[in-house]
Amino acid sequence: MTSSDPQDLQALVDSAQALFAQSATPADLENAKAQFLGKAGRLTELMKGMASLSVEEKKTRGAAINQAKQAIEAALQTRRQALADAELAQQLKAESLDVTLPGRARARGGLHPVSLTLGRIEAIFGSMGFEVAQGPEIETDWFNFTALNTPQDHPARSMHDTFYVEGGYLLRTHTSPMQIRHAVQHVKRYRAQLDAGESMPEIRVIAPGRTYRVDSDATHSPMFHQCEGLWIGEAVSFKDLKVVFTDFCRTFFESDDLVLRFRPSFFPFTEPSAEVDIQFQHGPLAGRWLEVAGSGQVHPNVVRNMGLDPERYIGFAFGMGPDRLTMLRYGVNDLRLFFDGDMRFLSQFQSAHA
Ligand code: PHE
Repeated sequence: MTSSDPQDLQALVDSAQALFAQSATPADLENAKAQFLGKAGRLTELMKGMASLSVEEKKTRGAAINQAKQAIEAALQTRRQALADAELAQQLKAESLDVTLPGRARARGGLHPVSLTLGRIEAIFGSMGFEVAQGPEIETDWFNFTALNTPQDHPARSMHDTFYVEGGYLLRTHTSPMQIRHAVQHVKRYRAQLDAGESMPEIRVIAPGRTYRVDSDATHSPMFHQCEGLWIGEAVSFKDLKVVFTDFCRTFFESDDLVLRFRPSFFPFTEPSAEVDIQFQHGPLAGRWLEVAGSGQVHPNVVRNMGLDPERYIGFAFGMGPDRLTMLRYGVNDLRLFFDGDMRFLSQFQSAHA
């Protein structure tokens, strides 16, 4: 038997199939293919060997070689497909997704309860035509005390346990310095009109923010919030203070029959001065008087420090505690809960709306 015998071709197909089967990767398989079907492959060799054959022999021999070639190509194609399938199966297995696993929920953030209160305060006063001003928490003695008619050694300074910082600064003990800061800016803008004896638009502003005092217990925190209010014009009276603040409290607590009491008090920067107490008519706090703000007619010396003539300009100011308002609104009895950062407490307000 010579290499031209059909049996030999069958052996060639068998050995190709065996080699393809052994090829574990597509690269191996392509190398194996080259041994049979490539330019220098064994089938090509066999074709060249036909040169010496007769025409008749060439016919049969050629057909047999072609058949073997087709068989080898088919085997190659089968193996290629098998390797590709295996690779895909492997990949699917590696990247498998277990759709029955529980999902990982993304935690939803929410506003801090005091921020909810500040938002409400701004919205309510906004509806009454008050703008919102922000100012520094590190203050000078002038804005925090002196300009507010509280000179050095004035006994009223001892009402505030102040954090003093280096360089003659202090952490503001209340938001009242914003009365001066805001009014001075406002007056500066209308200076020319004022000097010409004309009127300026009224000052109507609230100033919410952080304040600081050396104090710490269930109802006092060294950092707490205040919101200042100031309305200065040519005919703003104590009556306006009562109307505005009563309106605010009733809207804030969504209680039309809420009662307010203006209890005479003392602040160096207002005269007369009053502390504002509220009384709920319903609910767990019904009947109790709860202090929510300090207030009064702005003192002439303070009006002068704003750059205005106290004979012409007059108005009222108040300072309230948003932390306290938040405690009352949500029935929280320990102020420290607001600042401890305990998510079990804070997350209870996540669905609450301002
Ligand atoms: N600043 C005062 C306080 O901290 C409150 C207040 C503000 C009183 C404005 C009168 C007018 O207690």
